[in-house]
Amino acid sequence: MGVGVRAQELRKVYSSPPPMAAGSAGFSFTAVRGPKGKQKTEIVALDGLSLDVRAGEVFGLLGPNGAGKTTTVGILTTRVKPTNGSAWIGEYDVWREQVAAKRLIGVVQQRPNLDFSLTAREILEFHAAYFGIGRVERTRVAAELLERFQLTERADQMVRGFSGGMMQRLSIARAMMHDPKVLFLDEPSAGLDPQTRLLLWDIIREYNRAGKTILLTTHNMEEADALCHRIAIVDHGKLIALGSPADLKASIPGGYLLRLRFTGPADGLAGRLRELAGVSEVNVSGPSVDLYADRGGPLAPAIVTAASAAGAELCDVHISEPSLENLFLHHTGRSLRD
Ligand SMILES: Nc1ncnc2c1ncn2[C@@H]1O[C@H](COP(=O)(O)OP(=O)(O)O)[C@@H](O)[C@H]1O
Ligand SMILES: [Mg+2]
Repeated sequence: MGVGVRAQELRKVYSSPPPMAAGSAGFSFTAVRGPKGKQKTEIVALDGLSLDVRAGEVFGLLGPNGAGKTTTVGILTTRVKPTNGSAWIGEYDVWREQVAAKRLIGVVQQRPNLDFSLTAREILEFHAAYFGIGRVERTRVAAELLERFQLTERADQMVRGFSGGMMQRLSIARAMMHDPKVLFLDEPSAGLDPQTRLLLWDIIREYNRAGKTILLTTHNMEEADALCHRIAIVDHGKLIALGSPADLKASIPGGYLLRLRFTGPADGLAGRLRELAGVSEVNVSGPSVDLYADRGGPLAPAIVTAASAAGAELCDVHISEPSLENLFLHHTGRSLRD
C-alpha cells in the first residue's frame, strides 16, 4: 500500500536570519540577543500552507527561490519544527511520531551531506545498516543502485573526489537504500547536466511505478511538467495554484502570453487591445503590457495596427505558449526565473 503525505496550515516564522554556512545538515540555530532596542528578525517562510499528497503520486512543489519549499520539506521530514500547523506521513504525525514517520521516508536534501571520508559503496551500505537491513541484502541493493545511478566504476573510491553531479546521484541512491515508501527530493536536478537529469527523471518515474509516493521541489517548470502528476505552485509561503500540469496550464486566461513593450507609456492603449478578438486579459505597467490571448503570433499585426491608431509604437514582443511559467506570472506578476 502506498503512503500519502498531508500538511495542514503550516506556518513557519524564523526568528533569526538564515545561517550563512551552506551545507549544514540541520536548521537549528541559537538566537543571539542583540544590543538593547535592536529590532527582532522575523522571517515568515510559510504562511498557512496546506497540502494533500496522494499515495502513489509524484507531487511537485514549484516556486522561486525563497518560496518556502525547503522549509516545507524540512517540516515534513522532521527536520524543522513548524511554528504552527501539523503534518502527517501516512497516519503518523510527523512531530509526535517522528520515529515511525522517519521509517517511511527517504530524504534528499538540497545540499548533499555526504561523508567525504567514505567510499560511495560504504555510504550506501552504512545507511542501510542504520536502517537495520542485513549484510547480504544491503550489499545487493547497494550494488544495484550504484549500477542504476551509473556509479559502479567509482563505487570504491572516496566521495571526496566526486563531482557535484556524482554526489547528487549518490545522495539520491542513499535515500532509496532502505526502500522508503515516500521519497522527498529537494531540488534533485539542480546542477545536473542535461543527460544526468534525464537519467534521474527515468529513475524517479520507475520508483513511482513501484507504488512509491514522491514529493519533489523544483524551480524548474519543465521538470515539474515532465514528472509530476500534480503540482502546487507556492510563493511567499502560500499556495498559489494546485492541479495537474495540464489543468494548471489550461487555467491561464487565453493560454498564450504576449509580453509587449512600447516606446512610451501604454495606458491609453489598453482599451483598444482588450477589444481585439481572442484577447482575454490586458495588464499594463508603464510601457509594458502583458496580454493574454487564445493565440500568439497571428495577433501581432492587429496589435501593431491598434497601437499605431493610438499613436504608440511597439518596440518589443515576446510570445509564449501556455506554460506553468505563464501561470506563475499571471498570479504574481513575476517570473519564476527571477
Ligand atoms: N534556517 C533559517 N533561518 C532563517 N531563515 C530561513 C532559514 N531557512 C530559510 N529561511 C528563510 O525562509 C524563506 C524560505 O526559505 P526556503 O524554505 O529555503 O525557500 P526555498 O526552498 O523555496 O528557496 C526565505 O526567506 C529564507 O531566507
Ligand atoms: Mg530550497
